[in-house]
Parts: sequence; structure tokens; C-alpha cells
Amino acid sequence: MHNLKTEGLPVHVAIIMDGNGRWAKLQGLPRAQGHAIGIDSVREIVTATRDLNIPYLTLYAFSKENWSRPKEEVKILLKLLGYYLEMELPLMMEKGIRFNLLGEISDFPKRLQTQLLDVMDRTGKNRDLLLNIALSYSGRREILHVVSAMIEDAKQGLIKKIDERTFSKYLYTKNMPDPDLLIRTSGEMRLSNFLLWQMAYTEIYVTHTLWPDFRKDQYMEALTEFSKRERRFGGIKEN
Ligand code: IPE
Ligand code: IPE
Ligand code: MG
Repeated sequence: MHNLKTEGLPVHVAIIMDGNGRWAKLQGLPRAQGHAIGIDSVREIVTATRDLNIPYLTLYAFSKENWSRPKEEVKILLKLLGYYLEMELPLMMEKGIRFNLLGEISDFPKRLQTQLLDVMDRTGKNRDLLLNIALSYSGRREILHVVSAMIEDAKQGLIKKIDERTFSKYLYTKNMPDPDLLIRTSGEMRLSNFLLWQMAYTEIYVTHTLWPDFRKDQYMEALTEFSKRERRFGGIKEN
């Protein structure tokens, strides 16, 4: 199927799924259609990740800033999210995928909140792949939440030391390794407020492919490129 060795694979992949609108425009379709087809890419990438035994996948689906889009588009995105959760639950159960939300659940309509909590609950014991979906997510907000929670705990004498380890325990991604690889589709060279703390040493891969066209082959290309990267973490090359 693929000739990538497990040692060369990332443990945690993060993806900024961008370019749905441009994809639709190129096809002469409404933007909503780009988002809808984007779901097929999500399914394909989630399945491939699971099949490769990569244990963590984090997908950026909706940023805090995306609420500023036209009402109609936001409405469609929320509808597609509900649809996705409903349609994909059986696959998550079958493939041992645990769904987890990164972001501010209280921003969503009540019904969707219930649905999100339900899917997290039902898939909570699955252990083969942890699928984080970032929804109403902002990296800066996440850091601010950490700071407030730490101040509260410090007041109660619960914090002994303020260091990176302690800080990480307050993030949405507590107990997860930082992403090894960030993929961004559609050619944009920016983070757009995604996982600011966690991506200090993440390898970045940007492709011009638009998200609805990003499928298994394109994913394998990204993983192959990653396997050739030399990570130094500030050190020097050995040998
Ligand atoms: C990514 O596609 C999906 C979301 C941000 C929700 P876009 O909707 O940003 O597509 P472009 O960038 O306008 O092409
Ligand atoms: C980033 O895409 C957020 C998601 C993919 C969910 P955007 O399309 O919102 O990013 P900008 O506005 O181009 O930076
Ligand atoms: Mg975009």
C-alpha cells in the first residue's frame, strides 16, 4: 500500500483544511459545495491516518475568527458539522477512533453541543486514533484560558512550579504529544491562530492542493516529505 516505514512517520499530524471556497469557485459551484466535498477528504484522511497507525490527528475545521463569515455560510458549516458527526459515528466506532473537540463548545447552538458531547462520550473508550477537531478554536484564546486557570489554581496553592510541563497540562491537548507535522492546503503560508503553543517545533508542509482535492495520495506525499526532514530542535546534526 505504501512504503513508508513506521519510524519515519509522525506521531501527531495537524492539518489546516483550507481552500474549500476557492475549490468551489474554480468549479463554478457555491462555496457550500466546497465544504460538502471537503467532508469526503476528511473521511479519506482520517481513514488513512488510522490505517497507517498514526495515533493522533488534529484537524482545524472552524476557527474562532470564522464566526465573522456571512451568516449563511456559518449556518451551512454548522449544518455540515452536525451531518458529519452523525454520518461518521459508525466509522469511528468500527475503526477505534476517539473523537475529541478542541475549542469553545459553548459557542455552538445547544443541539450541536449535545451532539458533540454525545460523540465524545460514545467514542471515549476507543484507543486506536485520537481525532481532535478544532472548532471555534483560537490559539491565543487557548493560551489565555490556560493563564486564567493557572492563576485560579495558584491561588489555591495547587501549582508548585510555572514551567512548560505544567502549562501544557492546562491546554486542550493535555496528555498529547505536540504535532510533528503541520499540513496546510491551498498554499497559504500562515498559522491562522492554530495551536500556537503546541507548534513550537512542528515541521510545516504547505501544498497548493485545495482541501477537497487533498486525498490519500497527496497525504502520502506530505508524509514522505516529512520522513526526509531533519529535525534538530535547536541542536546540531549528529554525525
Ligand atoms: C476552509 O476553506 C474551511 C473553513 C475555514 C471553514 P475556506 O472556506 O477557508 O476556503 P477558502 O480559503 O475561502 O478557499
Ligand atoms: C483557517 O482557514 C481556519 C480553518 C481552516 C478552519 P481560514 O481560511 O479561516 O484562514 P485565513 O483567514 O485565510 O487566515
Ligand atoms: Mg480559507
